Amino acid sequence: MAASSNLHYILLSLWCFSFLSTATAEDSPIITRIAFGSCANQSAPQPIWEAINKYDPQVFIWLGDNIYGDIRKPNRLFGKERTIGPWRNSPRFVPSSEEEMKVRYAKAKANPGYSRLLRNARVVGTWDDHDYGLNDAGKEFDRKAINQRLMLDFLDEPLDSPRRKQAGVYASYTFGPSNKRVKVIVLDTRYHRDPLRSDGSILGDTQWGWLEEELRGPHSEITIIASSVQVISNLSATTGPLFYMESWGRFPKERKRLFQLIDDTKRNGVIFISGDVHFGEITRYDCAVGYPLYDVTSSGLVQSVEKVFPRPLRFIVRLLFWYTPNTMRVTNDNCRYKSCTYGQQNFGAISIDWDANPATVRLEIRDVNGLTALSTNVSLSELQPRGSKSLTDPTTKGKSQRHCTLEAELQGITRYRLAVLVYFIITVLVMALVGLLIGVVLTITACVYKCKVD
Ligand SMILES: *[C@@H]1O[C@H](CO)[C@@H](O)[C@H](O)[C@H]1NC(C)=O
Ligand SMILES: *[C@@H]1O[C@H](CO)[C@@H](O)[C@H](O)[C@H]1NC(C)=O
Ligand SMILES: *[C@@H]1O[C@H](CO)[C@@H](O)[C@H](O)[C@H]1NC(C)=O
Repeated sequence: MAASSNLHYILLSLWCFSFLSTATAEDSPIITRIAFGSCANQSAPQPIWEAINKYDPQVFIWLGDNIYGDIRKPNRLFGKERTIGPWRNSPRFVPSSEEEMKVRYAKAKANPGYSRLLRNARVVGTWDDHDYGLNDAGKEFDRKAINQRLMLDFLDEPLDSPRRKQAGVYASYTFGPSNKRVKVIVLDTRYHRDPLRSDGSILGDTQWGWLEEELRGPHSEITIIASSVQVISNLSATTGPLFYMESWGRFPKERKRLFQLIDDTKRNGVIFISGDVHFGEITRYDCAVGYPLYDVTSSGLVQSVEKVFPRPLRFIVRLLFWYTPNTMRVTNDNCRYKSCTYGQQNFGAISIDWDANPATVRLEIRDVNGLTALSTNVSLSELQPRGSKSLTDPTTKGKSQRHCTLEAELQGITRYRLAVLVYFIITVLVMALVGLLIGVVLTITACVYKCKVD
C-alpha cells in the first residue's frame, strides 16, 4: 500500500518536473524556427504540410479555423430557403453537432502531413470562428464550452490542465534558455467577444487580467502574441461599405487598450501573428508603443482568396489588393507580387538568428513549396521600448509616417477608392444595359412602324 502510494508520488513529481521543465528550464533547447497558420479545410487536400515539415519548425502555432466545424449553406437569393439578400429567411451558417465536430477534428488530425508535424514539433494554438463553431460568432454562442473541450482534445491538452477549467482557450508558453527566451501568448478572441459593431470587449475582463500578468511576468527576448484576427491592419476601413472583415480595428477601444498595456508594461520584443483573412500580409504600426509593432498574417493553409477565382482571373485579386489603399503594410523588394500580399496557400515562419549581433528575426510568409512570398528582417534591438514614445514624436515621424497613419484617417477619395471603382463599374454596366434595351425597343418600334407602313 505504502509502496504504491510512494510510487504514485514519485510519478507525480516526475510529471510535475517534466511540466515545469518544458515551461522554463535552463536546458530547454534554443528556438530558431517557429511556424504558424490558419484556415485549414479538413475536407480538402492539404499539401502545405509538406512545406511546413520541410521548414522543420520546433514550434507550430494554430491561429484558428483549424477545422471548418460549422455548416455552410449555399448562397440562395430565391426559393424557400433564402440565405442572402434583404429578404433572407435562413442563416447561411449553422453549428454542427458534437459528433460531427469530433468527426471533423479526427479527419484533420489524421492528415499524414499534420501527423508528421505533430511528431516533430510542439504544436499549440487558438481558435477562430469556424472551429469555435459558427461563422463570426462571439460570447453569445451557446456551444462554446463543449467546443472548447473538443478543441483542447485536438491539441492534446492534458486532461487535468487548468486550461480545461477556464472559460476560453487562451494560454502562454515559454521556450528556450535565459537570454534566448521566446514567450508565446495565444489569445482567445471568441469566447468573450462582444457583438461586432458594439466597440465592446474582445478578450473579456478575466483574460485582460491574465494578459496583463503575462506581460508583466518574467522577461523574454521575444514575445509572440497570437490572435486569430488581424491586430494591426484595418482593411475594413478601406473595403467598407462593400464588405467588412473581423479585426481588432473593428473594436477601436479594445485595440487601444492592447497597445496601452504593451506600452505600460514596457514589454519588449512583441510581435503579433494572426490569420483569418485568407491571404498573407505583413504589417507594422510605428506609433502604438515606443517601437514598431509587427503583425504577420498567415491565412490560409488551405483556404485562400485566389482559389475562389478561376486561374486566368486570379490577377484581378492581386490588382484589387494593389489598388486598395493601405497604410500599415510592409512593402519591399522581397514581395512576390507588387501588392505585397499573398493570396494563395501559405504558412507563416519566424526564424531567429541568435548569433547575429544584434540578434535578428526573419518574418516570412511562405508558399506551398516552402518558398518565400513575403518577408522582412527585424533586428531585436529595434523592438525595445525607447522610454518616451520617440516614434510618435513628429520630428522623427518622417520616414515611418506611412506606418503611423490609420487607414480610417485617409482622405475620403483615397480611402474609398475601391468602393468608388466598383460603383463606377456597376453604373457603367447598368447604363450600357439600359442603352442596349432602349436601342432594342427603338429598333423594334421602328421596324413595327415600317412594317405597318409597308
Ligand atoms: C472544404 O473542401 C471541400 C472539398 O474541396 C469543399 O467541398 C468545401 O466546400 C470546403 N469548405 C469550405 C468551408 O470552403
Ligand atoms: C477600422 O475601420 C472601421 C470601419 O471603417 C472603423 O469603424 C474603425 O474605427 C477603424 N479602426 C481604427 C482603429 O481605425
Ligand atoms: C534577411 O535575413 C536572411 C537571413 O536570415 C538573409 O538571407 C536575407 O537576405 C535578409 N534579407 C534582407 C532583405 O536583408
